[in-house]
Amino acid sequence: MTSSSSPLVLSLLLFASLTGLLVLAPRSSPLPPATPVAGEEEVGVVVGAGKDGGGGVEGRGGDSDDLALFRRATLDAGEGAAMAMAPAAPKVAFMFLTNSDLTFAPLWERFFEDHGDRLNVYVHADPAAKLRLPPTASFRGRFVAAKPTRRADPSLIAAARRLIAAALLDDAANAYFALLSQHCIPLHSFPRLYETLFPPKAAHHHRLPSYIEVLTGEPQMLSRYVARGEDAMLPEVPFDRFRIGSQFFTLARRHAVLVVRERRLWNKFRAPCLPEKEDSCYPEEHYFPTLLDMADHAGCARYTLTRVNWTGSVQGHPHTYTAAEVSPELVAELRQSKNSTYSHMFARKFSPDCLGPLMAIADTVLFKD
Ligand SMILES: *[C@@H]1O[C@H](CO)[C@@H](O)[C@H](O)[C@H]1NC(C)=O
Ligand SMILES: *[C@@H]1O[C@H](CO)[C@@H](O)[C@H](O)[C@H]1NC(C)=O
Repeated sequence: MTSSSSPLVLSLLLFASLTGLLVLAPRSSPLPPATPVAGEEEVGVVVGAGKDGGGGVEGRGGDSDDLALFRRATLDAGEGAAMAMAPAAPKVAFMFLTNSDLTFAPLWERFFEDHGDRLNVYVHADPAAKLRLPPTASFRGRFVAAKPTRRADPSLIAAARRLIAAALLDDAANAYFALLSQHCIPLHSFPRLYETLFPPKAAHHHRLPSYIEVLTGEPQMLSRYVARGEDAMLPEVPFDRFRIGSQFFTLARRHAVLVVRERRLWNKFRAPCLPEKEDSCYPEEHYFPTLLDMADHAGCARYTLTRVNWTGSVQGHPHTYTAAEVSPELVAELRQSKNSTYSHMFARKFSPDCLGPLMAIADTVLFKD
């Protein structure tokens, strides 16, 4: 669909972050800044104005700063190209999209422990959310400039793109980009995840797949497709190219780049749904699977690493596990894929009271592979 996966563009983008335009803002107070704040005291992150930073980019709905960010994450790439050097060991970017406390931070801390050189953490917290828990070490200073998010709304797509752009710019070694929520937990150890993403046998990491669910033929597809009007998605997205999948994915770097530079489909999926179609409006479940299936069908694993339980779902919410349900047996069951061809690495949704029981089995069950 675009030339973004060409080796030249990719290698240029690999060095984009060397230009040092970062978007992380420190966060010690409950409310994140609506706009990036220069913060030298934490992780040495500086928000540069950049040549687009003045907001000279046209955009609908006052998102010129987003557009500038996405352009920095892609177009500025050329400037750093001359500084070519051997990239560090690939890293995993853990991107948390949240509108409430990161209750499971202690569990993630234990998951991250001793592997800090192989990962980065990013958080997009809805500015309206009053987080009460202070960020733990891995999350401190890792909050990206955020905007309001709403469920079943393109703002979730925008937030995911913002996280991806921030992670692309922040570290050229980020090779996988895992989108998670505050309700997600790890189901395996970090080394096991790392080995799954970067199989020791794979000689060439540039063709590694994205773990994104891509489904077709689901019963609700037609009503979702016409949620903005009969022909609203045409000509960019004919019905037979329209896809559905979980919002929670783990994207390979080339696809992360593709997402932040993409504009055509985004302009379609960001359009509001018709008022009478509110029940069929979940753009965040369609944009990414549709885009990636169109752009690189063969490059998508077509399943997600994040297990969710839709049995007995209520108002579009999956089953939310409570403390009483947490057990070694549950972990074993959640890990298994339908036909046991792969293992899930993450699971959702867990209520905050699960923290204690999960910590209790962290070393003996969760992180024991
Ligand atoms: C999924 O949720 C239902 C309740 O909605 C529950 O009965 C079932 O045990 C859950 N399945 C798994 C694998 O946890
Ligand atoms: C089962 O595994 C095969 C690969 O062996 C895969 O193509 C297929 O999509 C899987 N089916 C499900 C339901 O996961």
